[in-house]
Amino acid sequence: MIAQRKDDHVRLAVEQQHGPSGHNQFDDVSFVHHALAGIDRPDVSLATEFAGIAWPVPLYINAMTGGSEMTGVINRDLAIAARETGVPIASGSMSAYFKDASCAGTFSVLRQENPDGFVMANINATASVEKARRAVDLLRADALQIHVNTVQETVMPEGDRSFSSWVPQIEKIAAAVEVPVIVKEVGFGLSRETVRTLRDLGVRVADLGGRGGTDFARIENGRRELADYAFLQGWGQSTPACLLDAQDVGLPVLASGGVRNALDVTRALALGAFGVGASGVFLRTLMDDGVSALIAQISTWLDQLAALQTMLGARTPADLARCDLLIHGSLRSFCADRGID
Ligand code: FNR
Repeated sequence: MIAQRKDDHVRLAVEQQHGPSGHNQFDDVSFVHHALAGIDRPDVSLATEFAGIAWPVPLYINAMTGGSEMTGVINRDLAIAARETGVPIASGSMSAYFKDASCAGTFSVLRQENPDGFVMANINATASVEKARRAVDLLRADALQIHVNTVQETVMPEGDRSFSSWVPQIEKIAAAVEVPVIVKEVGFGLSRETVRTLRDLGVRVADLGGRGGTDFARIENGRRELADYAFLQGWGQSTPACLLDAQDVGLPVLASGGVRNALDVTRALALGAFGVGASGVFLRTLMDDGVSALIAQISTWLDQLAALQTMLGARTPADLARCDLLIHGSLRSFCADRGID
């Protein structure tokens, strides 16, 4: 049953990517153009550091899959793309492995194909400390993602309906595992209040996982006999809104959800992210055009990111946070409603 769900998620996520790709709130963020701000390309570095983590580039392939034969092949190809481009990569939820260890290879392929890369394991917030450790061990993971996904669970026909244990469980896991713990949303966003709670629980990094790209309410509705939870589609805060909301909390943040191109990556970094993740866009490229196309796409994004940093006068991704930004439209209204300057 889990294997079928994993295959459904891939199919429905790629279908969503084939739909109209429209405006999202990244379009409400623009840079003030300073015509003399440019620097020299050889002086630009893409390296980023946060919470004791050092990445060669501020872009990563975010959590997607594993647990079935087809998704094992996808993980192999994602891992090859990560290895060839140097981007960090996260596994999909490893619940399937805890239920049936015979699918271990569909996850561990991420490490086999990418022995020296930065690999993140992924679990849900009900996993025991022992399972968290098993997930890290299987991938020899450099960090552990814990996903929080109440909206998805609510729409998922077989989803969880008990969420109150998540906060104490996250605290236990964060205290027990040796690697940094990153808590992530799956496309509905983390509010400032949630990021504060995570900081106080000892979590090292928050991945804001905002609205604007893959919509798991829509995916799970597509798996229901009646699509009777359609009213939850579009729920939550966008990724740029989350970045603005969480800017003063004091916990390092990663940005993902709705990232479409290198300009969105640059915008997210300018809004304070230490790294930027994408899932749906990369999955679509892999499924439609294969692993070479995915390697080319990621390489192009990295090249464009360095070009944009050069034009904007940012020697490092962190320097982008000093750029002058304009916030328009509904994102501006969000800031006013939340009292953000
Ligand atoms: C996901 N995502 C996800 N996240 C997670 O923490 N554990 C998981 O198992 C999965 N599974 C999964 C499957 C598929 C097919 C997709 C496309 C995505 C969510 C993902 O990490 C990310 O938060 C969202 O997809 C939003 O980012 P994009 O797709 O808009 O770039």
